[in-house]
Amino acid sequence: MTAAIDPRELRKALGAFVTGVTVITTREADGTPRGFTANSFTSVSLDPPLILVCIGKTAFSYPVFCAAKNFAVNILAEDQVDTSGVFASKEPDKFDRARWRTGAGGSPIIEDTTAWLDCETHDLVEAGDHVILIGRVIDFDHSNANPLGFCRGSYVQFGLERDAVAAAGQQTRVGAILESDGKILMLKDPQSGTYVLPTGSSLGSADDEKSLYGKVRALGVGADISFLFAVYESDNGNCQWVYYRGEIVYGPKEDPAVRMFGFDEMPWDKITDSALQTMLRRYVTERTENRFGIYVGDNERGQIHALSESYF
Ligand SMILES: Cc1cc2nc3c(=O)[nH]c(=O)nc-3n(C[C@H](O)[C@H](O)[C@H](O)COP(=O)(O)O)c2cc1C
Repeated sequence: MTAAIDPRELRKALGAFVTGVTVITTREADGTPRGFTANSFTSVSLDPPLILVCIGKTAFSYPVFCAAKNFAVNILAEDQVDTSGVFASKEPDKFDRARWRTGAGGSPIIEDTTAWLDCETHDLVEAGDHVILIGRVIDFDHSNANPLGFCRGSYVQFGLERDAVAAAGQQTRVGAILESDGKILMLKDPQSGTYVLPTGSSLGSADDEKSLYGKVRALGVGADISFLFAVYESDNGNCQWVYYRGEIVYGPKEDPAVRMFGFDEMPWDKITDSALQTMLRRYVTERTENRFGIYVGDNERGQIHALSESYF
């Protein structure tokens, strides 16, 4: 690494580029299926039809892909976070945990993706700690399923984001978990002494004082609120909560009602809303382990769209 380049910062800069998520598949000479999760996929040329993907030289399947005459690109749908996790792992039985069939070129084609491209290996290009696999498309198909996205180390579910925004006009409260230097901003209710997160009637803008951004501005906070973290219902479905996570850029101003809590000093006994407490506990765990997922459900039951072991 060139001395002037900080690899962690470079990783963060590269992670700002929103990509899809693919699973690249092939077969060993004896027919054993192999595959890995990749977001370095890019289209290259329409005529001839060429695509590329970069494989790390430390991947177990690296020699297999370098020797393969064919490979396939499976572009995952937004409900295939688990599949991404399976193929990002080093488990030997990845293909026992996915539904797939064999494509025309012999490579495994994963079922229920948003698109797939069956390719012949066209070229291999050396590129630092990766090799660029260039494939020539021999067969492909696509569906209407929403694609899975990936950005800044988290999965992005576009359909879910749209649903959350669509719901914002109804009985919806929008809140944020705002972090600075490993501490979470919480607001103290002066009467009860309990703690909550900043919330508003919509995401809105800093000029709209009822919106989340407006409330955050009133606290003297500038924040970059970028990712959806949880969506759940309370009050027998009468209220929908949409929580984002974000980073504090400046602030907050001095205010006895505003407190910043480190992960190990959270006032759990004073967070009396059980759904809020569950969500915050999950945040602290996932933040500590540097993995994020999106929670969808009600305040008792729900499903966490978990992030897999991260490449980044
Ligand atoms: C979202 C995501 C994107 C990834 N992108 C790539 C990639 O483009 N190239 C790569 O070599 N590995 C990538 N990885 C990491 C591989 O999936 C991971 O190293 C995997 O264990 C390789 O499998 P193997 O060792 O069985 O070959 C990515 C992982 C994730 C979760």
